[in-house]
Amino acid sequence: MKYLRNDDPELAQMAADEEKRLENTLNLIAAESHCPRSILEVLGSAFNTKTIEGYPGNRFHAGCIYVDQVENLAIKRGKTLFGAEHINVQPHSGTSANLAVYFSVLNTGDKVLSMSLPHGGHLSHGHKASITSRCFDFSHYKVHPKTEQIDYDQVRKMARSLQPKMIVVGASSYPRLLDYEKMGKIAKEVSAFLLADMAHLAGLVAAKVIPSPVPHCDFVTFTCYKTMMGGRGGVILCKKRFAKRLDQTIFPGCQGTSAVNLIAAKALIFKLAQTDKFMRVQKKTLENAKALAKNFKEKGYRIISGGTDNHQVLIDLTCKKISGKAAEESLESAGIILNRNVVPEDEENPGKVSGIRIGTNAVSARGMGKPQMDRIADLVDQVLMNPEKIQVYKKVKHDVLTLCNAFPIGMEWSK
Ligand SMILES: Cc1ncc(COP(=O)(O)O)c(C=O)c1O
Repeated sequence: MKYLRNDDPELAQMAADEEKRLENTLNLIAAESHCPRSILEVLGSAFNTKTIEGYPGNRFHAGCIYVDQVENLAIKRGKTLFGAEHINVQPHSGTSANLAVYFSVLNTGDKVLSMSLPHGGHLSHGHKASITSRCFDFSHYKVHPKTEQIDYDQVRKMARSLQPKMIVVGASSYPRLLDYEKMGKIAKEVSAFLLADMAHLAGLVAAKVIPSPVPHCDFVTFTCYKTMMGGRGGVILCKKRFAKRLDQTIFPGCQGTSAVNLIAAKALIFKLAQTDKFMRVQKKTLENAKALAKNFKEKGYRIISGGTDNHQVLIDLTCKKISGKAAEESLESAGIILNRNVVPEDEENPGKVSGIRIGTNAVSARGMGKPQMDRIADLVDQVLMNPEKIQVYKKVKHDVLTLCNAFPIGMEWSK
């Protein structure tokens, strides 16, 4: 950071503080992970300079010899990794990727069936606060009130009566496996396109520790910075027959120049995703989530859907008489970072919500395993059961630091 320290010491200090914060706290945010240092290097590399429009071999600016190689490499590696017929590596984000899919095959006003946000879905799946709901006519399926899992019979019923042009399967806070095959059959029955949004799950899918949506879906979108452990940005996979429409919808349709440093980071993480280290992290991520769910259950917490099949554990804190917001804030003051989360049929004030979402991706990337999950569950419980007891928070913060020091960021990756 020597150049940054020279040009802007104030900002350099913030970057150093952030690095220290990450190192010294337990990151349980399901939508983040610690990426390999090589990802940070390529993000800050010379690839940041180049302005590109169009696709390799058909650009609108000169000087693309090396960036064409980079994009082709990302395309080749991404297609192989996920077994996709076509890939577009240019989306700036998961939301841009979803928007491009919608606009590539839908007309404004077309019907789309997706998961309700309070039941696990994402803003970009037609939530009223998202521009997607102003462009298309979304209806939402929910989880079953008893099992808190997707009720595929209900989805089928809704699909038959609504006759949507597209069905979306994928979520931000759904701890269970998604049955892409069943969704594929439902979509076929009603002649709808099927989009799987695996933003949260891409790393687990890449490591083949959970099933892939690719064989069953017309489109698959994902982000590279959650379980995928890469840089930021989105990716779209699709069947060959949609390739041309999709590429045109990304550029020139809804994006201009693309971020070459992000594309380079995508190429890199697609290579690293085939290594034993990556697989080990993803396997641990799953095992750790199961261990946490079991631990919290034994401590009397209510786990949404009764458990987990992925990297997330969703906890309803209603029976503990603490809101999600209060839990998030207390835990942060003790060095444990997670986010409050709405739970199905949440009756709490929308600013406070009733739940918390715990992700094991970042702690698993640090190399933590089952013994550390037992410790983490204890520490979280101590904070939540002792509201405003500063002495408890201080002790937990100290224990968090000890745990973090034993598992420095990057240690697992450098093994
Ligand atoms: C399921 C899902 N889709 C899309 C997105 C959006 O990604 P981005 O924030 O990169 O636009 C997210 C992000 O949290 C997500 O969880």
